[in-house]
Amino acid sequence: MTRHFLRDDDLSPAEQRDVLELAARLKREPYAERPLAGPQSVSVIFDKTSTRTRFSFAAGISALGGAPIIVNPGEAQLGVKETIADTSRVLSRMVSMIVWRTYAHAGLEEMAANSTVPVINSLSDDFHPCQILADLQTIQERKGELAGLTATYIGDAANNMGHSYLLGFATAGMHIRIAGPDGYHPRADIVADAERIAASTGGSVAIFTDPAEAMAGADAVITDTWVSMGQEAEKAERIATFGAYRVTPELMQRAASDAIFLHCLPAYREFEVAPEVIDGPQSVVWDEAENRVHAQKALMAWLLAQA
Ligand code: CP
Ligand code: NVA
Repeated sequence: MTRHFLRDDDLSPAEQRDVLELAARLKREPYAERPLAGPQSVSVIFDKTSTRTRFSFAAGISALGGAPIIVNPGEAQLGVKETIADTSRVLSRMVSMIVWRTYAHAGLEEMAANSTVPVINSLSDDFHPCQILADLQTIQERKGELAGLTATYIGDAANNMGHSYLLGFATAGMHIRIAGPDGYHPRADIVADAERIAASTGGSVAIFTDPAEAMAGADAVITDTWVSMGQEAEKAERIATFGAYRVTPELMQRAASDAIFLHCLPAYREFEVAPEVIDGPQSVVWDEAENRVHAQKALMAWLLAQA
């Protein structure tokens, strides 16, 4: 059966472990897997802008032996001239995989429901699961065993990153803490899903309003932009709301002394993270960006092997 990766919990705990193990192997041996040899084509469609996702998928697809077909924002307008279902049926006849960055998550669900090839969510308004695989690989490299570690995500707890950390880190058996201001807490159904997963993996889920409390003893500290793509009109209001959630050296003091700092990037040093933190010795953001390539190659190879 064709498998898709739209949400972090589309991989079971055992499957997530397999993908991360393959990601580590592909980092050591970049050309060990060639499932797209031919070259087979993969469509990589962007309704929102991108640097890392665009380059990491293009590089990864090439390294797997395939050829990426990149569609930039404004070029495709999926769902405008014809239904997403019809586009999905057509693309399934032409390419071996569909990677799509879009707004409404429901569009990805419609694409996957009508596709006979794997569909990968490369960011929607609700989830960014490819980023979480790269983050898990990065944390594993620095800390070893993921299960039992505590990670704290601070900032816009209602955005795609907050939701994906809940599901993906619970799947890994981690203790995930999410801190954001009132009105910007994660969706209740996603918290419930993460709690259910954590109960089976030995992890846990905790939601905070006080950033200092959420940071206590954390092994990994994470933030993201306060203004996600599509929220530009709310910028002034958001900057005023999130001020107390800036990751500063003082806030980092509350985490474990060997805590690492992650950020999916792009980063805004004047807002969500101080330069001393993101450019300091605890930051692993460049490894995290590189690992997008390895983790996504592993994901693509794994999905193709299930078909
Ligand atoms: N982290 C991330 O997805 O970056 P881009 O928006 O540049 O792809
Ligand atoms: N939350 C951010 C992530 C960017 C990679 C956004 O959606 O814009």
